[in-house]
Amino acid sequence: MPSIVVVGLQWGDEAKGKVVDYVSQDADVVVRYNGGNNAGHTVVIDGEVFKFHTLPVGALNPGVMSVITDGVVIDPGVLSSELDGLESRGFHIENLKISGCAHVIMPYHKLLDKLEEESKGEKKIGTTGRGIGPCYADKVSRVGIRISELVVPELFRSRLEDALAVKNRILTSVYGAEALDVDQIFDEYSAYACRIAGYVADTAHIVSDAARLGKKIVFEGAHGTLLDIDHGTYPYVTSSHVTAGGACIGTGIGPTQIDRVIGVAKSYTTRVGEGWFPTELCDETGNYIRERGKEYGTTTGRPRRCGWFDAVAVKFTAMVNSADAIALISLDVLSGLETVRVCKAYEIDGSVTPLFPSNPYILEKCRPVYEELPGWSDDISGVRKFDDLPENAKNYVEYVSQALGVPVALVSVGRGREQTVMVRPDLLQI
Ligand code: IMO
Ligand code: MG
Repeated sequence: MPSIVVVGLQWGDEAKGKVVDYVSQDADVVVRYNGGNNAGHTVVIDGEVFKFHTLPVGALNPGVMSVITDGVVIDPGVLSSELDGLESRGFHIENLKISGCAHVIMPYHKLLDKLEEESKGEKKIGTTGRGIGPCYADKVSRVGIRISELVVPELFRSRLEDALAVKNRILTSVYGAEALDVDQIFDEYSAYACRIAGYVADTAHIVSDAARLGKKIVFEGAHGTLLDIDHGTYPYVTSSHVTAGGACIGTGIGPTQIDRVIGVAKSYTTRVGEGWFPTELCDETGNYIRERGKEYGTTTGRPRRCGWFDAVAVKFTAMVNSADAIALISLDVLSGLETVRVCKAYEIDGSVTPLFPSNPYILEKCRPVYEELPGWSDDISGVRKFDDLPENAKNYVEYVSQALGVPVALVSVGRGREQTVMVRPDLLQI
């Protein structure tokens, strides 16, 4: 089973980093295929915390090739600091390949992200402010700058001058902001270009060849499917192809080269930023989950909105990704609650539906229909075998699996690599 996609099934922050780290221990190649440094993937090994924003989590494992493919947008300053940060901790990143087709996040993208959000007032998306949307917009408008252009100084200079001529008009005339200086950006970005030039490669061929040779490949999805540009809760979404299909689009491989899809979901739901969230808990239970789960953003530090597990939404995202297995995360956070709830249907204007609506505006009217299950009080963070979980915790996992119609492959009971309970290890084997 050589290639596996790990993809988020909620609104991001599902602990994909932990699952990727787990499944990539035997991998040959780990690939980031979408998004940019709006992602925050955390891995905890022997108590030491590593946070990744642009680099694939596999970069920690010596012997693994890390690949950043065409579908990713790269802030070269952030990537350079991530590389420096890992090197200062003794990890020398040699086996890294960066696609020349990936687009560069420029200073005007970050500025426009902020200005566009401010101008929307109460209707803001609540973006991470990293310039992601404006960078993808330029890509689709065919005016973006690619990594392969960044690393050729005369080409970069000319592309930058063309882009700034337009962006400065927008910045000054539309937003009344200061114009950006071409020399300053050129100098700053040229230094980043030197730092990363040695890693630039033709990644579509590299990953396809690896697949053809039967190498073990893990595709590390960023964000969550409910934030997907097409299938998410538009317009409160990110700007990339988040789904397992995005691994093909972003990398340059065909769908038959994906062998298995692992969907990652928390045992409850969180969301950062604005947008619909039918099972949100704006009460003591929501606060309990936030504090126990340390639900504050890895990228922006914002408190995450918390609520019950939404099986209607996750059944939809499992379908969109054709998830073969679920990694159910943070079960330990629910310990101590007398009862726990799972949303099994939505009530909309008096009628009940088990289906996630294709028009997300309807979510505003959806009232969750809950199944209430008995909770458990024991601390389960030290449990390593499914049978050792309290009966009610096991029932909860089984209920979720049945509601989704997808087997649960692993349950996570803490952030540490070892705090993992295997349920169906065969489904995680690569
Ligand atoms: P990981 O990979 C959680 C959310 C933002 C905002 C919306 C658009 O760590 O799970 P953007 O900056 O992408 O234009 O913001 O998407 N968002 C995430 N939320 N985890 C993420 O990534 C996210 N990436 C984007 O909060 O609501
Ligand atoms: Mg995150």
